[in-house]
Amino acid sequence: MKNIDNYVPKTLEDYNRLYSESVINPETFWEKIAETFLWKKKWNNVLSFDFNKPEFKWFEGASLNITENCLDRHLAYIPEQTAILFEPNDPNQKSEKISYRELHRRVCVFANVLKSKNIRKGDRVCIYMPMVPELTVAVLACARIGAVHSVVFAGFSSTALAARINDSECKVLLTADGSFRGSKVIDLKSIVDEALLKCDSIKSTIVLKRIASDVKMNNNETWWHNEIEDVSDYCEAEEMDSEDMLFILYTSGSTGKPKGMVHSCGGYMIYSSYTFLNVFQYKTNDIYWCTADIGWITGHSYIVYGPLLAGATSVMFEGVPSYPDYSRFWNIVEKHKITHFYTAPTAIRALAKHPISLVKSNDLSSLKVLGTVGEPINEEAWNWYNKNIGKSKCPIVDTWWQTETGGIMLTSLAGVTNDKPTYATKPMIGIQPVLLDKGGKEIKEKEKEGILAIKYPWPSIARTIYGNHDRYKNVYFTAYPGYYFPGDGALTDSEGNYRITGRVDDVVIVSGHNLGTAPIEDAINLHENVVESAVVGYPHDIKGNALRAFVILLDENSNIDMKKEIKEQISKTIGPIAKPEIIQIVPGLPKTRSGKIMRRILRKIASGEKENFGDISTLLNPEIVKQILIKS
Ligand code: WT7
Repeated sequence: MKNIDNYVPKTLEDYNRLYSESVINPETFWEKIAETFLWKKKWNNVLSFDFNKPEFKWFEGASLNITENCLDRHLAYIPEQTAILFEPNDPNQKSEKISYRELHRRVCVFANVLKSKNIRKGDRVCIYMPMVPELTVAVLACARIGAVHSVVFAGFSSTALAARINDSECKVLLTADGSFRGSKVIDLKSIVDEALLKCDSIKSTIVLKRIASDVKMNNNETWWHNEIEDVSDYCEAEEMDSEDMLFILYTSGSTGKPKGMVHSCGGYMIYSSYTFLNVFQYKTNDIYWCTADIGWITGHSYIVYGPLLAGATSVMFEGVPSYPDYSRFWNIVEKHKITHFYTAPTAIRALAKHPISLVKSNDLSSLKVLGTVGEPINEEAWNWYNKNIGKSKCPIVDTWWQTETGGIMLTSLAGVTNDKPTYATKPMIGIQPVLLDKGGKEIKEKEKEGILAIKYPWPSIARTIYGNHDRYKNVYFTAYPGYYFPGDGALTDSEGNYRITGRVDDVVIVSGHNLGTAPIEDAINLHENVVESAVVGYPHDIKGNALRAFVILLDENSNIDMKKEIKEQISKTIGPIAKPEIIQIVPGLPKTRSGKIMRRILRKIASGEKENFGDISTLLNPEIVKQILIKS
């Protein structure tokens, strides 16, 4: 087998050479990368695609199992190396080092448990768990036997969990009795109980004891620790077609229900691994820490799959940056001699608000590379991160990508290509971005702003939305035919560096969480005293964006606390992360004559604009703008 290191650039010249190879002859390029992995059967064809159908097939005819590449492949030469380094919520509890050999054993055992629950290739398994090693075991155990994992972030409500389980008809649910989050203990099991009242497809539930609470177990619910007793640790890896489904992961859309993005085995394996090595320039013995949750794509690709495929040591942190105090991240960096630290701008901004002594009391000299992901990073936060955490000697990779892209798309490569504050900079090798004008024409000049699009497939592009291929086509391939349309705007500098300017649709990124405004409005409108509502985003110091809801009530004089009830309603339907910062009760909403809410105006009001609203004479009710302003 060839060594992937030969294709990982070490200098700017390497990057330029590999980049041009990858766009001049993508198939030859990706074939060489693919040859560095373990396959059960070779492909007949590297790529076939059609942007209009849309359809993307990578490595047709080939078969593999991703867990053999994450685990078995490493057993011959690094069996005792730590694969997962677990740091619990409570700093006084011991951290845990799980070697590749041990992880392989636990995955095989749990894969056999899943089989005993009648789970077979193609069946969907929902995973709703805290950030503990068993979560990684659960994910890989599914992949081992060809079951499709659908991880749901454990901060989601019972309604949101039920909707996701039902959308993909999961047969088994893996969960825990509860979770620790800072000083709070979260009762996951009762959220699960409530969700399961509405989920007929779930035939069995396996519950990990994490908080040792006294929970009631219902029919077909068993304890994790009982299930793994006396189970064989031998489990043959299922042979998967390259295009077979590996996982489903839900992301919010600007309208309607969440989209179950489908990723497939072969392409995702290659791209998550290759990007990990390129972007972070991971070397043997480095200790890599991504602070995301495995409930999001960042955790899938850059806590589990990317690092494990590369034989890296990946840290899993159960807690939050504020517990026991705001020095926790830096304590962990010192304690485990972290070399790579990858987090979100919202966390950086929150940490920067606290006394710098909390940083300075820790030895951060082990750090070599810093990363950011999830939303645009403002210059002030970038500079703070660079100076105080990186001591002005660590490259910062600002990685732009999405649930849909499976892996990092625009980024610098640590120490290889240049970083630039607020710029995601250059395309990853193999990625062909363009800027489009409103008419869909490519903007060839530099120093321009436009709509970001990708004009050639890459191995880990999502293949469909589970159960709704039409929606997949409509959202990503219809507005600009012949391109993948991610929904972001961008601009370029004179050197062709990309800077993401933000969403061009009704998705708002709050604290790095991707939230559609329509589902939040739907949740508000469920309240019987609500006539109509509109939710918009506005710039916020720490969260990047925050939400403001404008709500028309049926009875403004009722004595119930509507703001409180609306917040509760949203927490229940979606989850606490979707609660608006501000709820304003309004007599009406600005509308066009065709009845469409003019969100542009509401966005301006929410951002603090008082008079400059452009032409509002075409509104059905121009007087409403003043009335909303008076009360805001
Ligand atoms: C949206 C995707 C990718 C994992 C986390 C989010 C925004 C993401 C950046 C960045 C500016 C960014 C985009 C994108 N975004 N990374 N480095 N700079 N914006 O995944 O939940 O699918 O959200 O997050 O708007 O479209 P996601």
